[in-house]
Amino acid sequence: VCCVQVQDYLEPFRLSLEKLQEVSARATPDGTGSNWRRHIWGHENFLALDLGGTNFRVLHVRVVEEEQKMLKMDSQICAIPQEMMLGTGEQLFDHIAACLGDFLVSQDLKGHTLPLGFTFSFPCEQKEIDKSILIRWTKGFKCSGVEGEDVVKLLKEAIQRRGDYDIGSVAMVNDTVGTMMSCGYRDQSCEIGMIIGTGTNACYMEEMKNVKRVEGEAGRMCINTEWGGFGDDGSLRDILTEFDVVVDETSINPGVHTFEKMISGMYLGEIVRLVLVRLAKEKLLFKGQTSKDLLTPNTFQTKFISEIEDGLENAQNILTKLGLKWDDVDSRVVRLVCDTISSRSARLCAAALATLANRIRVNRGLDHLKTTVGVDGTVYRKHPNFSKELQATVRLLAPKCDITFLVSEDGSGKGAAMVTAVAQRLALQSR
Ligand code: BG6
Ligand code: GLC
Repeated sequence: VCCVQVQDYLEPFRLSLEKLQEVSARATPDGTGSNWRRHIWGHENFLALDLGGTNFRVLHVRVVEEEQKMLKMDSQICAIPQEMMLGTGEQLFDHIAACLGDFLVSQDLKGHTLPLGFTFSFPCEQKEIDKSILIRWTKGFKCSGVEGEDVVKLLKEAIQRRGDYDIGSVAMVNDTVGTMMSCGYRDQSCEIGMIIGTGTNACYMEEMKNVKRVEGEAGRMCINTEWGGFGDDGSLRDILTEFDVVVDETSINPGVHTFEKMISGMYLGEIVRLVLVRLAKEKLLFKGQTSKDLLTPNTFQTKFISEIEDGLENAQNILTKLGLKWDDVDSRVVRLVCDTISSRSARLCAAALATLANRIRVNRGLDHLKTTVGVDGTVYRKHPNFSKELQATVRLLAPKCDITFLVSEDGSGKGAAMVTAVAQRLALQSR
């Protein structure tokens, strides 16, 4: 009886292939685009900033001539304290400028004016390669005075306020674009960039003729879909569970980024926690007992899901750490909950990805498409079954697409530096 009741709670998380096909059909891509084309190298040295994932990174990317041109990178992680994520924009950009300043000193680069690739992984309206207006914060950031502003300008102003170093031209990219670019360096057929980490999103190469906002019919353009915002118009209401509703209501950005809240690392642990609390309250877990930790929002970290699915012993250690009294059945039920929720995440990503791959295929009038997706993000990288489940589901949902998944080697900073190089070369050519 107990097990049947547990299954009742988990049932709404289980999405059939038919349901995923429906979701996939609703995921029409629409979004802002970053206008770049594949080009050759110009400058030899670049700086890059990578803001919006688990870590804020500052990078120095160099093109070195060996047998063939290679990219070498040095990077440094710079912590962003939680208060700063919720403070003023000026504090945030001053901090970014300070981290960059320290890095320049450590790399012996002070006094050099280097071009900079800025991976800024939030929804933006990109006006120019170096002008990008933040539409809204996501993923736990909420700095005042930045939404509606040009983030490149805010960065440059912060650097000017310091006055002790300068930067050259700036190219701004989303992390999906940076990932696609850096994977494209290894595999030319990489035309989709996907992130499943703190947040989730994807970009893909669209035919220019389909991009109404930009003049010109020839060639292709990269579109940032911001698929995390899929469902914000209510189109996913039928598959939202009561737990998803609570996660949304208690987030700092209620009502937006619905799809992201069902999928990404920032939220998966919290969904599991809410289900466990409910099962305990219904006396279906831990003999009806909870613990202070289990009752505290966000204490069940997303990395616990990966660890628990990796082995029952891990599950038991984590439950003990959370102050819970468990028996063998409890630990198995907890593992089932984790598996159900991470599996839903992988399958939903697959539905959205299938839409993009099919769109590229149909755009090109192909019966069969062979393409590569560049991927990054802790959920995709670290979870034991996520990538397998995602890939198997995409195969079922997009049977006419043969997709290779390439995990980004050095993050999207390298890709941002490549876009900077392209932008510089184009600027020089048009002079
Ligand atoms: C990194 C990229 O490797 O992955 C970032 O360089 C990206 O740009 C990040 O945001 C996504 O993963 P996570 O899990 O850190 O959010
Ligand atoms: C969020 C951001 C998006 C980013 C994604 C992955 O969804 O809005 O821009 O690409 O997270 O980091």
